[in-house]
Amino acid sequence: MIFGKKDSNTTTQKAMITFCRQYFKGSYHILIMLIVIIGLGIVGNNILPSVYGKLIDALTNAKLQNFNKYIAIYFSLLLLCSFLTAAEKTAGNLFVFTITNKIKGNIFNKITRMQQDRLEKFSVGELISRLESDAGNIVSFCVNFISSSILIIFNFIIAGYMIVAISRSMAYLALIYIPASVLIYAVFKKKLRKLTILRRKFGDKFYTYMNDSLSNILGIKAFQLENEMSVRYDSLLSKQLKLEQDIVNLGNKIQISNSFISTLFNLVIMCLAAGFIGKGHLSIGSFVSFNLYIGKLMDAVQNVQSINMDKQKTFVSLERILSFIENPVEDVNGQVTGIIKEKFRSLSVKGLKFNYGENEVLRNLDFDINSYGLYSIIGKNGSGKSTLIKLLIKLYSPLQGEIYLNEHPYKTLPTKELRECITYIQKETFILNDSIINNLRLADKDLDLPTAEEACKKVGLHEYIMTLPERYDTQLGEKGMVFSSGLRQKLNFARALIKNSHIILLDEITSDLDGESEKEIVGILKRLSKEKVLISISHKIEAIINSDEIFIMDHGRFAEHGRHDELMERSQIYKSLINKIQDK
Ligand SMILES: Nc1ncnc2c1ncn2[C@@H]1O[C@H](COP(=O)(O)OP(=O)(O)O)[C@@H](O)[C@H]1O
Ligand SMILES: [Mg+2]
Repeated sequence: MIFGKKDSNTTTQKAMITFCRQYFKGSYHILIMLIVIIGLGIVGNNILPSVYGKLIDALTNAKLQNFNKYIAIYFSLLLLCSFLTAAEKTAGNLFVFTITNKIKGNIFNKITRMQQDRLEKFSVGELISRLESDAGNIVSFCVNFISSSILIIFNFIIAGYMIVAISRSMAYLALIYIPASVLIYAVFKKKLRKLTILRRKFGDKFYTYMNDSLSNILGIKAFQLENEMSVRYDSLLSKQLKLEQDIVNLGNKIQISNSFISTLFNLVIMCLAAGFIGKGHLSIGSFVSFNLYIGKLMDAVQNVQSINMDKQKTFVSLERILSFIENPVEDVNGQVTGIIKEKFRSLSVKGLKFNYGENEVLRNLDFDINSYGLYSIIGKNGSGKSTLIKLLIKLYSPLQGEIYLNEHPYKTLPTKELRECITYIQKETFILNDSIINNLRLADKDLDLPTAEEACKKVGLHEYIMTLPERYDTQLGEKGMVFSSGLRQKLNFARALIKNSHIILLDEITSDLDGESEKEIVGILKRLSKEKVLISISHKIEAIINSDEIFIMDHGRFAEHGRHDELMERSQIYKSLINKIQDK
């Protein structure tokens, strides 16, 4: 929680104003238009009861001329008001969507730029829930708040004035209604906030489950979990229904209490009015107007309440969005150093330490790479190899120690520049649901076909692509499912070549490949290693023995390093690792 309990409301209120100012900027013209429309509509609606009262008086007194005049005014006003209501909906919708989209755009941008360690604290479902529900909640509330505020102000002033003007003594009675109604809201406020927090947390859980299940349908089929998953989904739906029912029931309780009190007041006022009309102090038309204006006054009071209730819900959304947005982003806009233009001289790591919480993963790790070549990192599962790679592309920051590229400490290199110098290829290939050429263009948006073909030729993919009916325009499907894992890796490679960085980091990219494809990929690595630094995590013998240098990861540091034949001679750890690999 970012807000303390005691003065959380004022702090949140201030945060809300700052938040709105930031996003409303540039859309004030729509907002002003909306306010004018709402204002005119409310004024029109507030004149109607008075005209209606006069209409009735003209009717009861059989004054035809007055009747004709008032009926013309009444219908013109009514028409104008419905036109204004329609215009309010259009402008309101435009405003809500414009601002919500801005907030959503900003959150999405934030997600892609957030520091990896912070991002990992949120599940994909939670991110979708914040993106989809919380942003819209806030903006809808703002628009409601504005329109309700105008309604409250005008209704209080106009209806209040008209009520007093028609009958002062009946007006006093009406005023008691206000504190009674506020009391009702105070009674239910806490419960409402609690239910709203539950609903938002449930939303996170619900989206997380949907994302988890829908992206794992194959696993569900393989383990025949269809029934179980459906039962769990149904149970979540029932929980959702119960929560929504609780919220509706609470709303009903508030509404019934309100109706009860307002009916009671109406009853007392009617009795009083009957006496006045009987004595000739009040015309029927004025009484009808009075009643309609009382309705407007009650509308205003109920609007104050509903704003307060919505405020509780919206503050929950705002706290969730702010606590998310306040997470640090990567230094995408750091000062440009121009390192991308330098030739590769060295990549070195000194005294590197890194923990995940309490789990010490890298402990005093050192290494130096001073020339192009193929370097392998081997070690047991969980020994920290992938973590080291993630530090090398600055996904995490070291706890201690530093990494240097061409003697520049990483902390002085903007992330954006550094990632232009280093390409990272994971075992899980990065392929979007798009064509081959567009997937290659992720590395260079201006890429032309001949350059794409050249890169694909280098990784032995071009010939295969030419056999496809749509060639480079072939659609690859979700996660590139149209290609086999070997082809996907080759495509990733081709894209890495297009990016043309000096260093390529490879995390177990051959682990899913058969012997033939593995040999082919290792051949490509060998060729590329003459003009690039390739650092490869591998459990496959072919890649390891072909390396210029092998680093053995053990307990968070490099226990030994050297060429395959050297290590076979002198390193017990290496021999046992290699034996294990060969036994598989
Ligand atoms: N994102 C993470 N959050 C918490 N712990 C992690 C995370 N990634 C890896 N670990 C833990 O860090 C250790 C090293 O993991 P990793 O670098 O993936 O090892 P390797 O690649 O050598 O198999 C393991 O104990 C693993 O459970
Ligand atoms: Mg790993």
